[in-house]
Amino acid sequence: MNILTQKAELKGLLDELRAKGKTIGFVPTMGALHAGHISLIEIAQQQCHIVVCSIFVNPTQFNDKKDLERYPRTIEKDTELLVNAKCDILFYPEVGEMYPEEDKRTFDFGFLDRTLDGAFRPGHFNGVGQIVSKLFDAVKPHKAFFGEKDFQQVLVIKEMVRQLNYKVEIISCPILREKDGLAMSSRNTLLNELERAAASLIPKIMKEAKMDFESGASIEVIKSSVKVKIEAEPLFKLDYFEIRNTRDLNEFNPSIDKEAVMLIAVFCGRIRLIDNLVVKTN
Ligand code: PAJ
Repeated sequence: MNILTQKAELKGLLDELRAKGKTIGFVPTMGALHAGHISLIEIAQQQCHIVVCSIFVNPTQFNDKKDLERYPRTIEKDTELLVNAKCDILFYPEVGEMYPEEDKRTFDFGFLDRTLDGAFRPGHFNGVGQIVSKLFDAVKPHKAFFGEKDFQQVLVIKEMVRQLNYKVEIISCPILREKDGLAMSSRNTLLNELERAAASLIPKIMKEAKMDFESGASIEVIKSSVKVKIEAEPLFKLDYFEIRNTRDLNEFNPSIDKEAVMLIAVFCGRIRLIDNLVVKTN
């Protein structure tokens, strides 16, 4: 695996590969890699000749300084996982390489940036837009792969691609889960034993909500039942639980929408976890 830290080197190598007719697949990450990330690499390998993974803990998308400081950094283990997965190129820049000067751009993602994680993490998606556009400029991928674990992020990226007219296809990939159903996340390693045990309630509560939805319960009833269950666990603090349409995360309208997505964000101790579940309607 080629490990590069400079944009210029990366561009040089990728220009050569592109000139030889190779298609480039791109998987941007913040490292602390787990099987969920590796599943994106594997999907990318099935669809592209060359797979580039980036590892960069992007400071501009952290609205909470403490969250940025404690974000896990495990570059040695990450490198090993990527080598084992036969990833072709790892791009691992320092902050000064991606932000030689402050990025003053502000995106307008509309409602997507005002709801759910947009509302609870002000500036977060703007930071995601900044770094992903810089990475797209450096990699110029044919396809880029994102996990549905971050459902709202996928929609934000698609909107950015539309607005900036990038020639990249965005592929969204299924959520990988632990045995107990907890969505894999780099942040899971920050949970202590008690918190980790409590966290397994999240997928359980989501599954129950899905069953309630499918058996015709109203959104209001489901929301209050989820709230009660979350509040019953002393380690939890609920940011939101919502049921929305999958197109733009606006209100779910059963007469138009064939599917809905249930999205949750909950603090488990100091660690904020998110999850979602898509539900089909008949
Ligand atoms: P990070 O949280 O490292 O996630 C990198 C990619 O892996 C994202 O597309 C995310 O949705 C996906 N992913 C994480 N957990 C997953 C799981 N359990 N199953 C499937 N895919 C999963 O998301 C980011 O980094 C950053 O915001 C980034 C896009 C890199 C911009 O900085």
